[in-house]
Amino acid sequence: SATDKGPYPYYMLKEINEQPNIMRKLSQEYLDVDGKPTVDPKIISAMKKADRLYIVGAGTSYHAGLIGKALFEKLVHIPTEVHISSEFAYSDALLSQRPFFIFLSQSGETADSRVVLNNINKDYDSLTITNVENSTLSREATYTMLLNAGPEISVASTKAYTAQIALEAILAKALGEAVGQTTAQNFDVKRELSLAANGMQAVIDDKDRIDQISKKYFVHANRAFYIGRGEDYYVSLENALKLKEISYIQAEGFASGELKHGTIALIEKGTPVFALITQKKTAALTRSNLEETESRGSKGLTVVRKALAQPGDDFIIPDMSELLTPLVSVIPAQLLAYYTTLNKGYNVDRPRNLAKSVTVE
Ligand code: G6P
Repeated sequence: SATDKGPYPYYMLKEINEQPNIMRKLSQEYLDVDGKPTVDPKIISAMKKADRLYIVGAGTSYHAGLIGKALFEKLVHIPTEVHISSEFAYSDALLSQRPFFIFLSQSGETADSRVVLNNINKDYDSLTITNVENSTLSREATYTMLLNAGPEISVASTKAYTAQIALEAILAKALGEAVGQTTAQNFDVKRELSLAANGMQAVIDDKDRIDQISKKYFVHANRAFYIGRGEDYYVSLENALKLKEISYIQAEGFASGELKHGTIALIEKGTPVFALITQKKTAALTRSNLEETESRGSKGLTVVRKALAQPGDDFIIPDMSELLTPLVSVIPAQLLAYYTTLNKGYNVDRPRNLAKSVTVE
């Protein structure tokens, strides 16, 4: 059944493995044979009236929202803000004239996000993107889109993150086309999701090597850094969260250009620094920031989009739209967190102090 571990020792590994199929499934559910989005037209017409999008979420869902900002701004040309639920709830934010709210929540039950929805519900339209049908955020928002990723049981979220990004891409494509943006018309989301599925699978097939990297560089580390710029930075935040929440290694996601303004002081011999290099505009800069840490003794590791690859890179992901590289670039670090936790002997699915769904503020 969907809640069975099957042959996997932990749900997290099962859920990581499900991601390529979830990409294919979302493509079938939300795109027609020609790759045209089949998103509910009521959602699109409500969103078309907006002058600004507000994406709200917590934890991993907040990180998926950051990728959404890039997608909506590039494909729709609509200003998009992303907020941490618990902060936005009490921020007395100055809203635009015609805001539209998107709630991202795997469970649909996160109390911090529910407070924001309660605050805006009387006055504005909203859409909840969630994995759980009939969940509270889904019932209370104006509209819902379901991830249909199957139950996510491991506390550390993996497949919900990539499913949320895929759905944001489909929605951005649909809205962008509806407002006549050529970038959206030219964005072949069906093809991109299929490239992503194959790219994910290639990383998953390489998991023994990730286990080796974990044993060599992470299991004995007391801290680790994940760096990148732009979308690579946003994915680095998620990569760091994965490692810290289950392996208890202190990990930080950092904008690579910001390291030199303080944080590079923490680099010691052997400190792992895991760089994402998928965006052409910033690739050379991130590389030189990584070298700055290596010259201070760090162990640098790289995840690079093929066209930007150099000899010695650790993981090569396919050439695909720079907007959707997060779907693949996040997988090596998901597996790295998994193996590091396993190799340290902790319970991967049930980390200390954490709950899958947090229904208190
Ligand atoms: C908890 C979980 C996280 C999750 C966050 C938001 O803290 O441990 O993995 O990202 O809640 O949950 P949601 O269900 O709203 O996506």
